[in-house]
Amino acid sequence: MEQTFIMIKPDGVQRGLVGEIIKRFEQKGFTLRGLKLMNVERAFAEKHYEDLSARPFFGGLVEYIISGPVVAMVWEGKNVVVTGRKIIGATNPSESSPGTIRGDFAVEIGRNVIHGSDAVESAKKEIALWFPDGTVNWQSSLH
Ligand code: CMP
Repeated sequence: MEQTFIMIKPDGVQRGLVGEIIKRFEQKGFTLRGLKLMNVERAFAEKHYEDLSARPFFGGLVEYIISGPVVAMVWEGKNVVVTGRKIIGATNPSESSPGTIRGDFAVEIGRNVIHGSDAVESAKKEIALWFPDGTVNWQSSLH
């Protein structure tokens, strides 16, 4: 079954949005396979965003991700990568629709509350990076 990597960024944790965000993935019917609150080292944040290292906002993005704890999660379900990104909304909160997480809770692209893998291949890479010890297998009654 398809899996995706979701990270609640430091602003989402600081603003008390963890429960609201988890609720949206749960109520859609996705299955939680991994969850941890952690502080991220600079080198680890740079690795996670290595594809963006040439972009002008890279330094600021890394500073943002290491500015406080993040919640790293693995969610599983049918088409969870694409559907998860619909739940999250467009990267730039000024373009994300009301009803999406960023549409409801963010205004700045540099403080956009949450990250979700953009493709199945990047989800595999990100899950391997963030959950090197694997995820939790349990039976959901929804599938
Ligand atoms: P995310 O989904 O984590 O993927 C890459 C991140 O880079 C994105 O969300 C934003 O947090 C950040 N980002 C993308 N474009 C910009 C930008 N123009 N200015 C600042 N941050 C950006």
